[in-house]
Amino acid sequence: MNELAIIVLAAGKGTRMKSALPKVLHRAAGRSLLGHVLQVARALQAARVVVIAGPEMPGVAAEAAAIVPGAATAIQAERKGTGHAVAMAREALSGFTGRVLVLYGDVPLIQPETVSRLARNAAPLAVLGFEPEEPQGYGRLLRNAKGQVIAIREELDATPEERKVGLCNSGIIAINAELLWKLLPRLKDSNAKNEFYLTDVVGLTVAEGLPVGLEVCPAAEVAGVNDRIQLAGIEAGLQQRYRRQHMLNGATLTAPETVYFAADTVIGEDVVIGPHVVFGPDVRVGDSVEIHAFSHIEGATIAAGARIGPFARLRPGAEIGEDAHIGNFVEIKKAAIGKGAKANHLAYIGDAKVGAKSNIGAGTIICNYDGYEKHLTNIGAGVFVGSNTALVAPVKVGDGATIAAGSVITKDVPADALAITRADQQVREGWAARYRDIKKARKAAKAKG
Ligand code: UD1
Ligand code: CA
Repeated sequence: MNELAIIVLAAGKGTRMKSALPKVLHRAAGRSLLGHVLQVARALQAARVVVIAGPEMPGVAAEAAAIVPGAATAIQAERKGTGHAVAMAREALSGFTGRVLVLYGDVPLIQPETVSRLARNAAPLAVLGFEPEEPQGYGRLLRNAKGQVIAIREELDATPEERKVGLCNSGIIAINAELLWKLLPRLKDSNAKNEFYLTDVVGLTVAEGLPVGLEVCPAAEVAGVNDRIQLAGIEAGLQQRYRRQHMLNGATLTAPETVYFAADTVIGEDVVIGPHVVFGPDVRVGDSVEIHAFSHIEGATIAAGARIGPFARLRPGAEIGEDAHIGNFVEIKKAAIGKGAKANHLAYIGDAKVGAKSNIGAGTIICNYDGYEKHLTNIGAGVFVGSNTALVAPVKVGDGATIAAGSVITKDVPADALAITRADQQVREGWAARYRDIKKARKAAKAKG
């Protein structure tokens, strides 16, 4: 195939999102809408990528460059239609003579295979059609008796007869660069919206005596986002796709419809994921890991054989070692938990290292923050941390040490030592019985009056 350039239209205001954030920077499955579209550009190894943004859309250029290094952003100062928007890419694509693909920044479910099929269509211009349940609002693909596409008619400009056509324009096209730059200056804004419609290149191509190719895709793939209800619909569509993918790749999801993945979640084989587990961005899970119900995981790596949850929270920088156990109400942030280590109940481990086979007792808290700065805690291998211990960072605990329950550890603990900081226990024989007798007698005297 020819070299490929991708233009992503993203200059629409997105008024109906009612948001200070540009529409294409809203997220689904932890990734911006623009990011989803640009992943397609990456998958197709496009030689050039140009995002068309509106003025005052902070963050769009940075997001584009973060996902596709070298991606250009061109500004469409005035919103004069899809044809006008595409023309803004001309400078960034100067010298490019291959195939140009036009995608929409607010149509994130589009699949690389579909777009690749469109790009490979032999016609100099090919359009992507779909048949929605309700065609209202879309441009219609008009065809001749031979079934060849001869024009795209926008709803507002269509006759009642043309509106009966069910095959609609997704807006996504593939066109040879030379033809595109030849036709764009010929677009006119003499239509219902007084805009320069990209769709008019279809009629112009036919007028040149050239064929227009047609590819069709499922309506769900070209669903767009105009408001937050549709954004939620896109989220649902993505989740359905990811759940399927992870199950096909060898993960068991006991209640798939309750598990939420991020677009970049990586899951190994023979992983079991219980109900109501949520994955934020940047999570990698090794083989044979068990993640029990109601765990929330982001920015974490979990090595093979580890057991997480129920009700565990892994935050960015959590690195869970092989066969480690992280149990209920345990929060881990920026901490490496060694092979076979355990923190089974009610703990906070932040800015820390825990060595292999160490055991972190219930109620252990790492006091990593002094109100101004974060400090590190280093716990060696084979350490036993008794329940309800507070480790005040910075602090080190040597291999094989034991910390007695209820201790507040402010100084380093040498290897194989016992650290204990609680007050000695005092026992007063018979005290409770005497106390009860006194109290009961007083109460009885009061009742008598
Ligand atoms: C467009 C198509 C229509 C198709 C529909 C599919 C045209 C003329 N019409 O209609 O045939 O059925 O999409 O959803 O192309 N944009 C810009 N700058 C502009 C105008 C639009 O960047 O000046 C971007 C928008 O951000 C959006 C995309 O282009 O991502 C489509 O624009 P929109 O106004 O939604 O087009 P429709 O009128 O819905
Ligand atoms: Ca639209």
